Amino acid sequence: MHTTSVLSPTNLLRMVLPSVHARLRGLLARWPWIRAVQLVVDDLWWGIRLWIGRIDTDSGTTHERLTLDESMRYIEGVMSDYKRYGRLANFRGVVAEVGPGDNSGVALLMRGEGCDRVDLIDRYESRRDPAKHHRIYEALSEKYNLSRFRRGCRWNDQDLEGITQKVGHSAEAYFRECSRSAEPVYDLIVSRAVMQHLFDPLGAMEAMIACLKPGGQMIHKIDLRDLNMFTPQKHELTFLGFPHVVYRCMTHNSGRPNRVLFHRYRDVLEQLKAQRLIDYDVFITRLVGIGDLIPHLRPVEISAEMWDHAERVVENCRQHFAREFVAVESRDLAVSGVFLVATRL
Ligand SMILES: C[S@@+](CC[C@H](N)C(=O)[O-])C[C@H]1O[C@@H](n2cnc3c(N)ncnc32)[C@H](O)[C@@H]1O
Repeated sequence: MHTTSVLSPTNLLRMVLPSVHARLRGLLARWPWIRAVQLVVDDLWWGIRLWIGRIDTDSGTTHERLTLDESMRYIEGVMSDYKRYGRLANFRGVVAEVGPGDNSGVALLMRGEGCDRVDLIDRYESRRDPAKHHRIYEALSEKYNLSRFRRGCRWNDQDLEGITQKVGHSAEAYFRECSRSAEPVYDLIVSRAVMQHLFDPLGAMEAMIACLKPGGQMIHKIDLRDLNMFTPQKHELTFLGFPHVVYRCMTHNSGRPNRVLFHRYRDVLEQLKAQRLIDYDVFITRLVGIGDLIPHLRPVEISAEMWDHAERVVENCRQHFAREFVAVESRDLAVSGVFLVATRL
């Protein structure tokens, strides 16, 4: 009888690979520069993929890991956050959702509430499971009476009434082009967990403002953490230690966090406010060393103890920061998540 030898090449690999993997993880944890090299190589690979037109990605595949109930709760949570912090009674007019990822559920609910059109703008194409998405849209449809937006007998998010997919368009290019239109196009521009992935979020934000009709609103929830580039093995502020050029080489093509932090968004919003183009509001969603703030709070609503704690965590790491962060106030660097709400005047 033929039996597989205990020391066959496959078995040897099976024995050796986990320990190699564990050792590699240990090295990465001790020397973030090794991880940085790995990220630079990966980003180069992303550059090649984009150049040959491969835009499929696992980023934004939020619903892949969720049950039907969790997906419903996620979509409903996104909607209620926009309403609560944007102080929207309901959704109306023409809307752009930037970086929707693998689901058009938020757009469907917006249509259900009375939006005339929702444009979905995404640089990449998040992988999705059509059968699973059919179930999500069917459940949303039953709960919110949305069947009028389905074309054909099955839900297909490429073909929904009044929802336009603009996949393969970066937000930067799309809104720059849109800002050249004779008339502003949008009543509302929203995003969640997207601005931190843009290669030029500040330019995109200015262009978005130019695309808003008077009275129109822009609402962005922005996660300012490193999103597992170096965490959880290293401290949450490790990513601020790399010089600008190196960091850009790790992130530009892959859409990894752009390290554009709170103070830079605020400076642009302040400039636009000084030009009487907008009014704006900020809610802090997370603080360094503390975590999520739920409900999200305006800076003045956060207690002095919380600010002190978060600022101390920043101060303890400051000696390792790259030049561009050395002069930035600790309070600004302590903000690791924000909700920005701007209204076009
Ligand atoms: C973390 S996912 C968030 C997905 C979704 N908003 C959610 O809450 O589940 C980030 C999304 O931003 C998109 N994205 C990244 N860079 C972009 C860019 N420059 N322009 C437009 N979309 C971008 C990705 O393709 C992805 O769909």
